[in-house]
Amino acid sequence: MAIQFYEKEQLFKLDTKSTTYAIGIVDEEKFVGHIYYGEKVSDYRLGYLMRTEEPPFVPSKNDRDRVSFLDSFAMEYPAHGLGDYRESCISIRTLGGNVALSLSYISHEITKGKVPFQGLPSSFGSEEECSVLSILCEDKVTGIRVVLQYGVFEDVDVITRSVKVVNGGAEEVYLTKVYSACLDMDNKEFEAISLHGSWARERHKQVVPISHGKYSVESIRGETSHQDHCFMALQTKGTTQECGEVYAMNFVYSGNFKVMAQSDQFDQVRMVMGIHPEDFTWKLMPGEEFQAPEVVMVYSAEGLGQMTRTFHDFYRKHLIRSPYKDKKRPILINNWEATYFDFNTEKLIAIAKQASELGIEMLVMDDGWFGNRCDDNRALGDWFVNEDKLQGGLKYLVDEVNKLGMKFGIWFEPEMISPDSELYRAHPDWAIAIKGRTPSLCRNQYVLDLTRSEVLDYAYECVAKILRSANIEYVKWDMNRQLSDIGSAELPADRMGELYHRYVLAVYEMQERLMKEFPDLLLENCSGGGARFDPGMLFYSPQIWCSDDTDAIERLMIQEGTALIYPLSAMGAHVSDCPNHTVGRVTPFETRGYVALAGTFGYELDVTRIPAADREMIPEQVAMYHKYNDLVREGDYYRIASYADNHYFDCYGVVSKDKKEALYTFVQVLNRPNYHSRRICLKGLAPEKQYRIEGEERIYIGELLMKAGINVPNPWGDFVGKLIHVTEV
Ligand code: GLA
Repeated sequence: MAIQFYEKEQLFKLDTKSTTYAIGIVDEEKFVGHIYYGEKVSDYRLGYLMRTEEPPFVPSKNDRDRVSFLDSFAMEYPAHGLGDYRESCISIRTLGGNVALSLSYISHEITKGKVPFQGLPSSFGSEEECSVLSILCEDKVTGIRVVLQYGVFEDVDVITRSVKVVNGGAEEVYLTKVYSACLDMDNKEFEAISLHGSWARERHKQVVPISHGKYSVESIRGETSHQDHCFMALQTKGTTQECGEVYAMNFVYSGNFKVMAQSDQFDQVRMVMGIHPEDFTWKLMPGEEFQAPEVVMVYSAEGLGQMTRTFHDFYRKHLIRSPYKDKKRPILINNWEATYFDFNTEKLIAIAKQASELGIEMLVMDDGWFGNRCDDNRALGDWFVNEDKLQGGLKYLVDEVNKLGMKFGIWFEPEMISPDSELYRAHPDWAIAIKGRTPSLCRNQYVLDLTRSEVLDYAYECVAKILRSANIEYVKWDMNRQLSDIGSAELPADRMGELYHRYVLAVYEMQERLMKEFPDLLLENCSGGGARFDPGMLFYSPQIWCSDDTDAIERLMIQEGTALIYPLSAMGAHVSDCPNHTVGRVTPFETRGYVALAGTFGYELDVTRIPAADREMIPEQVAMYHKYNDLVREGDYYRIASYADNHYFDCYGVVSKDKKEALYTFVQVLNRPNYHSRRICLKGLAPEKQYRIEGEERIYIGELLMKAGINVPNPWGDFVGKLIHVTEV
């Protein structure tokens, strides 16, 4: 049984294959306390850990120091305003101006199976795979009820958290903060790992020690962002890929978020995650409820590597829904870096023709095919085909590409509106803006106010109409600016604080509609590269464009950070032209292929114009993709060396679940004198199995390859790569 309630002890024990999570109900006021999260323990008698016999005394025993109790007790879901001065998870404002809440246990329910939340992305699991604990708490004074929700995925070692807030009072209240999860722990000299960056430099990992005060990672940009990522892991000092304890949280959400670790006066650490409270209020009428997005929690006693593999398995099995999730994706060629806005039917067909001869399977027409979109200053919103560019129309082009044996895909940016567009001239109030202020432009565009149903319907229909008009099998859904000037022409003043969250819900609704109407469509999300690469979007699309930076060397760090949490099956990665359009670096075509192999794989170049020697390599790369993609998509990921840490070389591997096959990618970034070869210890193999390395005669046992390692000959030059393919004999 994954969830047990021990009546006498008033204790819940949540067990997965290797972890235990324990919750206790204490005192006459029935506070819901956190007891333990960590390695699996068999004994359920964990209540002694709750410190109810130690000072400061619990309120029923000594109410004189109630504040001291609240300010130190480990809470499952701490509320605001009554004496817990650490970061709270929920706060409200009543009509009378009061902000406090005190949550007491009322009842609980244990159920089997998990269906996603209505209107929000979230994990799912069958009755055999997942049990759900719902603990109902209430604040007696306001009538506010909070349901603490725990999804226990026994086999994959994941616990999901969320809350639903119900207004059980007689008058409306305003929620001013609703986080989704809290974890109160003793300080184990934690370090926080988080992911940061910028445009073209997403998700670089950062490690900082946690000391007194608050350390937070957050976005108030209306999307997850290039800059910060909705993830934090607390690791014990000295944690490596294999050793050390890791507590990780990742948010299944694509808008404003905050994740924070706070070390308090008693060296206890509180970690919280949820929607960012800044500019957030939600009006809740009597009887109404608010469902907060989900947090995925992973505990690993075996270092970061195990955390990574747990997230990968969980997302592949319990979050990504697309029919493509377990399938090889068509190798695509995208014309963005090939032509930018300068293309027409003839040019695209020429690229497709050449690409099809080389084994590429799908042409994706990027930005610039609609309205008067001759550059990025205009026409977003005018989703009608520009027949000056696409002579003969879209269907003609798609049919011609299909005749070459290739699929066809198309780019959209449905959430946006250019001031220079027919749409804006007809509906200037459809842009998000504050009344009386000229909204700030970004890439010369505004964001559509999708919280208005007529705007959402219009934007959806624009996409759907195009998809209905031809055999289009793939969509790249882009979002190229972050939100600002938060104001809607329709929302009343006391609901304006709902706009950020309503916007995210509207995007989800559009993508849900799209998947319902076009269930076989392959959707790839994108946001100026990888600014919305998050679990929320993975619920709708099995792959996300990882970054606008396609340079193989820059990608090493971007893909390392991304793969820390997300499966390789989800990482959009392409081979592009050189000198690279973002950094001007020249790397061998071969290395670009090896690096893109760690993702969905494709091309982003004008195949008719690249050097012949590079073009000749494409059929080999295509064959390599077909040979390895099942392994890359479904295998277990092992990081061996990090270019981000050592500044010279990078190495990671993917091992099949049955450990019969593995592929290791080695990239030497900078060559150094005097190195004849590098000793690499392979990871993830079965110690007792016998293996052969492709290209070699000798047989090794797994133990030797992992403990003693192999010598990788020092390649000549910089930016050179090598694949090491290992199979069981
Ligand atoms: C974003 C995407 C690119 C490309 C351009 C088009 O930057 O990340 O891949 O589609 O938009 O404008």
